[in-house]
Amino acid sequence: MFWEWAEGTTSTFSKVLDRWLVILFAFICATVLPVYGSSAASINPGKCLIWGSGLQPDTVLPVRFFYIQAVDSDGQNLTASPGKDTFKVKISSLDQKEYIRIHVSQPLDRGDGSFLVRYRLYGTASKGLKVEVFHGDASVAKSPYTMHGPVYHEYCDCPEPDASAWQKELQCPKKEPQILSDFKSFPTVDLQLLREEVPKRFSNRGGLIHYTIINNQMYRRTQGKYTDFKMFSDEILLSLTRKVTVPNVEFYINVGDWPLETKSADSSPGPLPIFSWCGSTDTRDIVLPTYEVTHSTLETMRGVTNDLLSVQGHTGPQWINKTSKAFFRGRDSREERLQLVALSKKHPELLDAGITGWFFFRDREKQVGKAPLYKYQVNIDGTVAAYRFPYLMLGNSLVLKQDSHYYEHFYIHLKPGTHYIPVKRDLSNLLGKIHWAKENDAEAQKISRAGQDAARELLKPSRLYCYYYNALLMYSQRQNGQPQRHKDMEHVPQPNDHTAMCTCKRQAQQEKRRLNDEL
Ligand SMILES: *[C@@H]1O[C@H](CO)[C@@H](O)[C@H](O)[C@H]1NC(C)=O
Ligand SMILES: *[C@@H]1O[C@H](CO)[C@@H](O)[C@H](O)[C@H]1NC(C)=O
Repeated sequence: MFWEWAEGTTSTFSKVLDRWLVILFAFICATVLPVYGSSAASINPGKCLIWGSGLQPDTVLPVRFFYIQAVDSDGQNLTASPGKDTFKVKISSLDQKEYIRIHVSQPLDRGDGSFLVRYRLYGTASKGLKVEVFHGDASVAKSPYTMHGPVYHEYCDCPEPDASAWQKELQCPKKEPQILSDFKSFPTVDLQLLREEVPKRFSNRGGLIHYTIINNQMYRRTQGKYTDFKMFSDEILLSLTRKVTVPNVEFYINVGDWPLETKSADSSPGPLPIFSWCGSTDTRDIVLPTYEVTHSTLETMRGVTNDLLSVQGHTGPQWINKTSKAFFRGRDSREERLQLVALSKKHPELLDAGITGWFFFRDREKQVGKAPLYKYQVNIDGTVAAYRFPYLMLGNSLVLKQDSHYYEHFYIHLKPGTHYIPVKRDLSNLLGKIHWAKENDAEAQKISRAGQDAARELLKPSRLYCYYYNALLMYSQRQNGQPQRHKDMEHVPQPNDHTAMCTCKRQAQQEKRRLNDEL
């Protein structure tokens, strides 16, 4: 055909040739460049790895997630990003007639050759889900993955009656050392004493929420002036009781900033067990994940954009391309923060520190946006523990952490010098530590990696649910007396609007399992 056209005038010939060149060029761009141009290695879709609880139907979480590890044609893991558009994910109901809204995020490029895929179900897939992962047109790893239903969504009120089966499904750790340590002060929980003493001693201290859970139904009353933060404890307890049947319990949550109970374990009368967001070495409060970590986990891909999963995709440039300086932005809630800013003015070559006015999640995003550009991040207490610490640990930077008697629920797993660099409370050795990091770059990077790996595991959404359950379980086992619904307690119901619609089959399944066991 070409030669037929070429028999015409030379101008026709050159036009045709032009067209062929254009087509040829487009062909090169489309096929060769993405493979050889954007990264040194080419991806072998079949050798890539895919894993994670988001492929298990029974791991019900607000946002389900799984990982993709890019692997090259030699079978080697990629350790740098092959480009953020390397993989595409499609998730659909196995029942083509069933309409459910599924919000699938673009795979988050973690910058280290791995990707994190998050999705949120807005309905229960009764027959199941099909998860497909593509690289170009090719299927990745063992895609498509089939999850047999029912695959429940977050708002479906469908607790698993067998709590140990649920814990196994979530791969909950057998022991949480922080919980074990906190309960050492409380071999028994005397409910009658608690009801009498807690209001007397602490109701003028900010905000206390008195909860009772009976038959997985939640009741509460509030004490103190500042109890709006009950929205955070309500939302996690409701979410937990939609997923698993929790033991009957009656307890207090302190929703103020500071932990409360200063009595020592051997004083008489003894200390009172109160749950708090923040722990300290001077107090006996039983620590729970902070409202910030909790809310972030529950509202991922909804109200919260800068959550613990999405920050994993915003780690900035590769280590070698980060600025070798320490960075800090925060409110002026503590003296040392002002000292830090003064230090930064004197040593701008080592430190970029500033005070900002942000208070809540959204404002923070703008202010801290520059952080991933820096190799070192300074963490200084705010009113209590700096709730930014989890986010810093998930980044690809070395965290310089001020020594503190405040802690959150997961700090116990982190070792100074292994996962982060400790800095004296008065910051007197901070500059020295920054110098050390600059001179020992490989070691600094290794610590940063170790910290990031640990935080990725410890702050996984499933671990959060495990933690809450475990804390309530241990508490319930020590209760002396019957949990009661007091007459001024209101029932806190599960949502029952269209978002919660679903058919829960767990009770029936358990009955079937029981019958099978008996036969
Ligand atoms: C490749 O990555 C996967 C997933 O992170 C990991 O389990 C595996 O050990 C890595 N393989 C090598 C050879 O490093
Ligand atoms: C670091 O930055 C340079 C210049 O922008 C760029 O060419 C290089 O690819 C970057 N290296 C990495 C590992 O990102």
